[in-house]
Amino acid sequence: KNIKLIEVPSEIGAGTRGASLGIDAIKIAALDFMSNFFVHFPSEKIETENNLLFEPIQSPYAKRINGVLIMTERVSKAIKDTINNNFFPVVISGDHSNSAGTIAGIKMAKPKSRLGVIWIDAHADLHTPYTTPSGNLHGMPLSASIAEDNEESKVHEPDEKTKKQWDHLKNFGKIAPKVLPEDIVFISLRDYEKEEKHLIEKYGMKVITTAELRRKGPENVVRAALRYLTECTDIYVSFDVDCLDSSITKGTGTPVSNGLKEREAEDLVSKFMQNRKICCFEITEVNPTLDKENLMAEIAFNILQRSVNVLMMN
Ligand code: ARG
Ligand code: MN
Ligand code: MN
Ligand code: MN
Repeated sequence: KNIKLIEVPSEIGAGTRGASLGIDAIKIAALDFMSNFFVHFPSEKIETENNLLFEPIQSPYAKRINGVLIMTERVSKAIKDTINNNFFPVVISGDHSNSAGTIAGIKMAKPKSRLGVIWIDAHADLHTPYTTPSGNLHGMPLSASIAEDNEESKVHEPDEKTKKQWDHLKNFGKIAPKVLPEDIVFISLRDYEKEEKHLIEKYGMKVITTAELRRKGPENVVRAALRYLTECTDIYVSFDVDCLDSSITKGTGTPVSNGLKEREAEDLVSKFMQNRKICCFEITEVNPTLDKENLMAEIAFNILQRSVNVLMMN
């Protein structure tokens, strides 16, 4: 495959400051490992709306969704063009809110595809402005992609403008839903709220826990996940570094215990990359301002490099 790197130093979707520096931290890790990874591939850097952080928020239930919408537009266009030009997009982003744009871009390039999603993350990112505990958009990209409000679990009543903006995000690229809820597989999910649990149970989304992965091994888990998504024509893998155990993820905004070991995550992701249905890979949520010795970025770089090596051979 011909790889193209899409760099999105997004920051406004997260609740803790610093994720926009994640990409540069990963580049520093590459330099420390004396790797020429970042000169090897064509890349495109997406402009951000991080300046909005200096302004007051409009709605506490969808913080800076106006900026996320603008970013979604840019990210989706870049992903769409990348795929249409026969490149495989590898997305490196600051916070996970950009994923709504990644998914939109894939669907815009492949409108007839049935897109499966492998979400490797401690979190489900299935909140909506009606349910969010934080108002942070990085907790919402999957619900936007399945075009879900989750009104049954409603906790808040967003104002009309916010509702319109959320509807815009759900209907981005005039394709909604972009992903069927039953076509989502969570791996290492372990920190979610009851409103998210409601959706997972309602739609029967597949959840593979850390314990199950450890028991069965990465290879069997990959096989099971792909078998589960057998009706999907294309599959997107999104890797939030907080899927890893909190003992090694000081450098992310929302670390959670009982996560994956570095080696488990590497084996898992590189096995997925061997499959011909995989159409996009994303790694996100490195925050070097919280870290020591750039450890999180080094781990992220190792996973990125090994995944891309596999992609290049396939
Ligand atoms: N569920 C929590 C929230 O909505 C945490 C989300 C964390 N998401 C992430 N991409 N790190 O605020
Ligand atoms: Mn997460
Ligand atoms: Mn939580
Ligand atoms: Mn996430």
